[in-house]
Amino acid sequence: MNSGGQAAVADWQAHFAETAPHLQVRWLDDPHLQPDQVHYAFVWSPAPGRLAAMPNLRLILSSGAGVDHITADPSWPCHVGIKRMGGEETAQRMGEYVCLGALALLRGLPRIIAGQRLHKWDSFDSPRTAPETRVGVMGLGNLGAYAARMLQGLGFQVAGWSRSPKSLPGIEDFAGEAQRDAFLARTDILVCLLPDTPETRGAIRAETIAKLPRGAGLVNAGRGGHAILPDVMAALDSGHLAGAVLDVFEPKPLPPEHPAWSHPGVIITPHLASLASRPARARYVADAIAAFERGEAPPNLYDPARGY
Ligand code: NDP
Ligand code: OXD
Repeated sequence: MNSGGQAAVADWQAHFAETAPHLQVRWLDDPHLQPDQVHYAFVWSPAPGRLAAMPNLRLILSSGAGVDHITADPSWPCHVGIKRMGGEETAQRMGEYVCLGALALLRGLPRIIAGQRLHKWDSFDSPRTAPETRVGVMGLGNLGAYAARMLQGLGFQVAGWSRSPKSLPGIEDFAGEAQRDAFLARTDILVCLLPDTPETRGAIRAETIAKLPRGAGLVNAGRGGHAILPDVMAALDSGHLAGAVLDVFEPKPLPPEHPAWSHPGVIITPHLASLASRPARARYVADAIAAFERGEAPPNLYDPARGY
């Protein structure tokens, strides 16, 4: 879906022709494609069993930074490496989304939009400025670290929480379960950029939300499974959460009848936080294949032991 399916094949072929003319690019689901002739698969949510039917695959290239859309298929060929999408443009776009979400919550954008819908002149002051606001980023990886720096540039007080300790200049660091509660307690706006793993599912649930200060905001651009939506809605209704900017849902898409659509504290975006342009992704994939063919170990590979 985020690769554009059959309709986008000609466009992808044109981008690859520019960046790596020696690569033959075919649609993965082309009925005339000989599965044994496929060496590299660049995919988003391939049909279950499709990759397993390709015996000569050398590398799988994920069209997104997450790989859950590949590993959800129990038959995926796990002896083949998965290279995750990355690169400057993916990180820049995510950073822009996170800053948009944090500023929207800081300045009460849900209330402003609600007022406009009602043609209501509802003028109000923001309770604080960015330098008075503590943002906490869950997942300080490729995207989280980049977003943290952009938030810092806006003047927010930024902290990150990840599995292993980090040392990013000016960013307060928290790591592991032992430091999770302290991280939550100092966070006015919580940003989730975790990968989808058994450990991270449900990371934003009633018990964790309760550890945030009253009136906190939430930006979830990780995966839908990270946030237990009924718990988020209950916290919004009680005022413990003042607002939420949500990009990812489980199930996806969010059903039209779901109350989150019309909740006055919620801004919903349809999984668009960060998708690099096709030329940028084609360049990234072509570079990865070239490095792989030179025998270099590709960076940003999915590690089955860690789950991301
Ligand atoms: P990375 O693998 O680079 O970073 C993941 C981060 O999460 C790391 O800092 C890692 O810690 C941390 N982490 C993993 N497990 C845990 C845990 N159990 N407890 C605490 N921290 C943990 O991934 P990316 O930054 O490239 O991408 C992150 C996610 O963003 C993707 O997996 C995807 O789900 C989502 N995404 C969403 C998009 C959208 O449009 N909404 C677009 C792109 C990505 P450590 O550093 O110690 O390893
Ligand atoms: C991704 C995504 O994982 O688009 O890159 O969510």
